[in-house]
Amino acid sequence: MKVLVVGKGGREHAIITALHESPTETEIYSFPGSDAIFELAKQVEADGVASLVSYMTENGMDLCVAGEESYLVKDGGLANACAAAGIPCWGPPKEAAQLEASKEFAKEFMIRHGIPTGGYASVNSVEEARAAIGGKYPTVLKFDGLAAGKGVAVCLEEASAEEFLEEVLGQRKFGEGRLLVEEFLEGPEISIFASVVDSEYQILAPARDYKRIYDADEGPNTGGMGAVSSLEMFEGDLRAVIDETIVSPTVEGLQRDGLPYRGFLYFGLMLTEQGPKVIEYNCRFGDPEAEAVLPIIEGDFASYVFAGAKGDLQPDLIQFADGWSICLVSASAGYPASSRSGDVISGLDEVEGARVFHAGTRQNDAGDFETAGGRVLVVVAQGDTREEAVAKVYRESEKVRFDGLQRRTDIGTRNF
Ligand code: AMP
Ligand code: GLY
Repeated sequence: MKVLVVGKGGREHAIITALHESPTETEIYSFPGSDAIFELAKQVEADGVASLVSYMTENGMDLCVAGEESYLVKDGGLANACAAAGIPCWGPPKEAAQLEASKEFAKEFMIRHGIPTGGYASVNSVEEARAAIGGKYPTVLKFDGLAAGKGVAVCLEEASAEEFLEEVLGQRKFGEGRLLVEEFLEGPEISIFASVVDSEYQILAPARDYKRIYDADEGPNTGGMGAVSSLEMFEGDLRAVIDETIVSPTVEGLQRDGLPYRGFLYFGLMLTEQGPKVIEYNCRFGDPEAEAVLPIIEGDFASYVFAGAKGDLQPDLIQFADGWSICLVSASAGYPASSRSGDVISGLDEVEGARVFHAGTRQNDAGDFETAGGRVLVVVAQGDTREEAVAKVYRESEKVRFDGLQRRTDIGTRNF
């Protein structure tokens, strides 16, 4: 099977590894990829969705897997272009991908289909925003457009809200676009993933990620500093409640709205006292959650994704290992405000019994990996218990070193 994976980060390294280790033989291609990924996949060069799909057609690709979200809505949509070329794609068309690309579209979808989520108002000026906040804090402000992960502010008091409003609606830091004022939800968060194939779906092992840069969930938000996954996180009837109140109505809603969907669908949930509520949808796997979840998938992941992309969900092709899987991010100096590149990474060969996925590295002229981004690499390990997995992932991560390295010390312990 010839498969092309779109994306270049730790998530795509994990997806490509899972495809590579599947019993079905695969020939893997990667765009845009990374030096670490090119150890398993052939590099493809393209300058957009159209040229990428032409490449796939010319080279007889059987399957396209969308790792990251941006291509789903770019240039007419990756899945739309694949469909036109007759190539099965794991990742939804641009119409359904609005669930991630537009926060207002997602809110309207949830309200239309009775899916629990926080209340909100959509505004376009500082005055309207102030009126919607109504002096009630904490409040949550979200820019409704692409903002490289910096468009959300959870504001505990007026001063921080005013500062964010001034940047986003005053100075238009992210350009034109509306702003959502959202009800502040409280509770532990959980990341739920489903493989959706039209009207059918399968819920995968859940995960929890750690978004803040510092221990104890302090400091600015990042792309994620680590994640934990285990079927044991589905305590009591949690899985059934999430399925019944959120996943099932979402898949039905997509059908009712005439939005075909094949691919991973990610539900960011807050487990509030009134039950689980949706914070956001993402039309892809989570990052770094993928790095924790994919290593515990057993079976034939490649055939599973290929069948799904062709419209045939086959849940029995994969199983989830018991126990716990934890991934720990090593980030570069300055992250998340900035990131430093060019610090040589040592100790990669010493890691044993754990995997290393590369998020932001490159090979220098001497052939050594060095930092090339904010989140540099992710070490992931498993254990029968959470404590065992924590001990292992920390022991192995500590073997990896580079100047300026930042790593949290409470991944897998905090919030449990
Ligand atoms: P988002 O980009 O929408 O996932 O938001 C990023 C993070 O902000 C979430 O993972 C939450 O930790 C926090 N957040 C977003 N929306 C809310 C909300 N309505 N109430 C409380 N926290 C939120
Ligand atoms: N881990 C959060 C995300 O992938 O958006």
